[in-house]
Amino acid sequence: MLTMNNISKVYQTEKVQTHALRNFDLNVKEGEFIAVTGPSGSGKTTFLNIAGMLEPFSSGQYTLDGVDVGGLSDNERADLRNQKIGFIFQGFNLIPDLNLYENIEVPLRYRGIKSGERKRRIEECLEKVGLASRAKHLPQQLSGGQQQRVAIARALAGEPRFLLADEPTGNLDSLMARQVMEILESINREGSTIIMVTHDPELARRAPRNIQVVDGQLADFTLYQNKQFEKANKLATAGA
Ligand SMILES: Nc1ncnc2c1ncn2[C@@H]1O[C@H](COP(=O)(O)OP(=O)(O)O)[C@@H](O)[C@H]1O
Ligand SMILES: [Mg+2]
Repeated sequence: MLTMNNISKVYQTEKVQTHALRNFDLNVKEGEFIAVTGPSGSGKTTFLNIAGMLEPFSSGQYTLDGVDVGGLSDNERADLRNQKIGFIFQGFNLIPDLNLYENIEVPLRYRGIKSGERKRRIEECLEKVGLASRAKHLPQQLSGGQQQRVAIARALAGEPRFLLADEPTGNLDSLMARQVMEILESINREGSTIIMVTHDPELARRAPRNIQVVDGQLADFTLYQNKQFEKANKLATAGA
């Protein structure tokens, strides 16, 4: 459902040209939970931003649910992103003077979702992340782990098929990190496809599939794993 072929991304600043991604190939199937690891500066965030259509790519082909992303206008891309993608950032990105309910509501309003439906989704998502009783709290009244759970609820309220998370546990202690991971796992069981960048090897190991980005490319073992994965899938399909 998500396919990248030969994707490259070049950042051009006054003096330097940075190849953040080069010849990047990836195939993601519906319902997968993928952990992305790799050294700092290797292109993980760039990959995630391109996957989430927050950034354009320089060359190559990116297909999402059969749609050629490179051929879309800015508006079409924004629509596709709104329909399909949920983003969780390391820094939570909550609005400090809005309470939890309102924070989750902002993107839903922006999408023109009616107030009754907004209320239903917000309550359901706060319940899912264990913060139903805190709807009226301000972000500053919560711990970092709780704030990250609000950010997850906000992403979930859009009912995304793809959840993209950039070091969602980067600012959390290990107990809270595990709690966030458990929430992501349960969301994945309910059917969302998840791609999570993480520095934490313990969390990465818990994900069913790991890929590693090194110097803007998938590391060799990942390519091997991809091939094995495709082979297993072919066998499964043939047997079905
Ligand atoms: N907006 C930008 N302008 C110029 N260079 C950038 C920009 N964003 C990222 N880069 C460069 O691209 C490379 C990959 O960055 P990034 O994707 O953020 O890596 P990671 O998330 O793995 O740490 C780095 O060398 C980084 O400095
Ligand atoms: Mg990063």
